[in-house]
Amino acid sequence: MYLRNFISMNDVSEVGLRELLRLSKELKDKLKNHESHRRLEGKTLAMIFEKPSTRTRVSFETGMYQLGGHALYLSASDLQLGRGETIEDTARVLSGYVDCIMARTFKHETVVKLAESASVPVINGLSDLEHPCQILADLLTIQEEKGDFKGLKIAYIGDGNNVAHSLMLGCAKLGMSVSVAAPKGYAPDSEIAKLSHKEAERHGAFVEITTDPGKAASQADVLYTDVWVSMGQDKEKAKRLKVFKPFQINEKLFKKAKPDCIVLHCLPAHRGLEITGEVMDGMRSRIFQQAENRLHSQKALLVTLVMPVKRESLENQGGKVALMFHGQTD
Ligand code: CP
Ligand code: NVA
Repeated sequence: MYLRNFISMNDVSEVGLRELLRLSKELKDKLKNHESHRRLEGKTLAMIFEKPSTRTRVSFETGMYQLGGHALYLSASDLQLGRGETIEDTARVLSGYVDCIMARTFKHETVVKLAESASVPVINGLSDLEHPCQILADLLTIQEEKGDFKGLKIAYIGDGNNVAHSLMLGCAKLGMSVSVAAPKGYAPDSEIAKLSHKEAERHGAFVEITTDPGKAASQADVLYTDVWVSMGQDKEKAKRLKVFKPFQINEKLFKKAKPDCIVLHCLPAHRGLEITGEVMDGMRSRIFQQAENRLHSQKALLVTLVMPVKRESLENQGGKVALMFHGQTD
């Protein structure tokens, strides 16, 4: 498979996603069995952060180290970006030093521009619109727990935000039905919802948006939530905490789901707000397994994007690269 950048969950086809999941499992097994898998020996990843991070930062840095490479943490405010150097110039300069760039940005446009100007692969490590790396780990967790995706229903309860957008696209591509319960005015982007529904329909599944958490959770195989106040929304905090109150994942909501339903949360969590501590630490929580899977799935992503053998074989094809993504040809 050939993947140039990973900016949106929509950059990758169902086949591409399945291949990434297969490789994630392979690399996870190798790590657990203490088998060497230094597939990115001598490679460097630049990580630009406009926002804070625990999981993304540590899993990418550790992942590069385990693959034999190296990662650089770059706070946007410490770069010349903070003093007015353009994102385009930054992309061109970094492309001369490193083999891949990951960026966590406010505006989605920033990571898009970065990808357009860089000559190395670019990864979206969360923007205001999407968080595709998170969803790779979520899908790996669902696969580990449920075996496959087709016929499953996932219910996302809460804000129609970046995580919700990538989750809808990713789950729909693999044949899951997705039910999103969000308060009025906080529904996911309608274009992303439409696109996800189209993907789901190919499998006889659906994507629906409701304001009723009970309806979304009904007969669900997976319950999912995220914070009510995302990074950059602190000014709206008081209002949001009020509006989202009925959208908590708790034992009562859990009872509406299937008996073997699992619960996921991308983290960080606010216990007592979007999820109760009881559910988070309960028997059906897979939240910390999900957090660990960020490491394994991102290693698969890095190998896919950076692995030199892919690039050589692409060059050998004389520029005729068959893209599996969107069925395009490059
Ligand atoms: N889920 C996630 O992306 O966590 P961090 O903000 O800690 O990276
Ligand atoms: N929606 C959250 C996700 C954090 C990983 C945010 O953007 O802050």
